[in-house]
Amino acid sequence: MKLTILGGGGFRVPLVYGALLQDHAEGRVTHVVLHDLDAGRLSAVTRVLAEQAAGASDAPEVSATTDLDEALRGADFVFSAIRVGGLEGRANDERVALAEGVLGQETVGAGGIAYGLRTVPVAVDIAQRVARLAPDAWVINFTNPAGLVTEAMSRHLGDRVIGICDSPVGLGRRIARVLGANPKEAWIDYVGLNHLGWVRGLHVAGRDELPRLLGDPDLLGSFEEGKLFGVDWLRSLGAIPNEYLHYYYFNREAVRAYQQAEKTRGAFLYDQQARFYAEMKNPDAPALKVWDDTRAEREATYMAENRETAGAGERDEDDLSGGYEKVALALMRAIARDERTTLILNVRNRRSLSVLDTDAVIEVPCLVDANGAHPVTVDPLPDHAAGLVCAVKAVEREVLAAADSGSRSTAVKAFALHPLVDSVNVARRLVEGYTEVHPGLAYLR
Ligand code: G6P
Ligand code: MN
Repeated sequence: MKLTILGGGGFRVPLVYGALLQDHAEGRVTHVVLHDLDAGRLSAVTRVLAEQAAGASDAPEVSATTDLDEALRGADFVFSAIRVGGLEGRANDERVALAEGVLGQETVGAGGIAYGLRTVPVAVDIAQRVARLAPDAWVINFTNPAGLVTEAMSRHLGDRVIGICDSPVGLGRRIARVLGANPKEAWIDYVGLNHLGWVRGLHVAGRDELPRLLGDPDLLGSFEEGKLFGVDWLRSLGAIPNEYLHYYYFNREAVRAYQQAEKTRGAFLYDQQARFYAEMKNPDAPALKVWDDTRAEREATYMAENRETAGAGERDEDDLSGGYEKVALALMRAIARDERTTLILNVRNRRSLSVLDTDAVIEVPCLVDANGAHPVTVDPLPDHAAGLVCAVKAVEREVLAAADSGSRSTAVKAFALHPLVDSVNVARRLVEGYTEVHPGLAYLR
């Protein structure tokens, strides 16, 4: 079985390859094709993978190419993990937004819109090529902003593109852990958009255990989301939000912390990764070790500013590795081998969430089998959550329309309608600022 990874020179590719190395079952991936625009990054990552594979007799063969069409031909699965504009682009997304006093996170608020505007045209081109060159391939989209990008691709690939994220899984696992439940035996009632969802229940043996958590302040304050959002706010909500909702519920504090930080997340990662790829040019560098140390530092500092404003302290040891490669592998296995399972995924809504139309990509528990991902029907969201979901989906639709038409005024509308952008004038200046720094937005006229 052939797996093609787009963004194959990306820093997190060894996580995927590590997960593939654990899979010895029949029907596993035997050939990995890495595609990237940058040959230097490809050779850096290839070195790490070679060290990972050392000693494994059934390690998947790895090849690398900068030719996209060649990479796609004959693929059974395509993982799309690209970063249009690189980490420099991410740092610029943050800087331009923060200068206007609004959030520049890569998936939330103004930063997410800017990143979406330059990523959607590239993702659409990929989707069209897959449809033409590898019509039987399944596409698993990792590229952020994952919900929006998956929706853009689904217009060309239908249900054969599925978006993934590890944050709902991590959230479910943490809640199960504090409740003393086995995450594998629990049904997690989670729904929303990517990075905008809520856990409303956790059912074990037919009983909802979440009220027990919400009723116990000590337990509630003992894990990441309890520390981040505070016990009182979680009890008011009666649900546990995805960690990315911290940017909404504590927006002012998050913006201030990002403005005051020595480096924004994107700028930090830009420097960190530049060091990693530079080091890989030294033939004597221990590739796997350098990669792993860099990874550990990245994970330990994830959402550090948010945790700092909340006084949440260091990350819990058990939360450090997100595990999105595990979600991707579980999804691929379920489809390729009909290993039926349940996963929280980004798929077209159909009739799961009644406030959105059938084609809206949402994040929802799905039953997965050889026919793909089937979203389950969920209870309606409370009004406050439905309001946010509808507002942000409307913004995503404006981003898709702007990418489609190249219309600058539609791009302004996307920014202006976002709940975290507080003025149409700010939206206009954001479009100006972003088009100045991003060559990938030159299409906006
Ligand atoms: C979480 C999110 C991902 C994001 C990742 C890394 O797992 O769900 O969407 O890519 O964190 O974040 P970072 O800030 O390290 O790039
Ligand atoms: Mn994510």
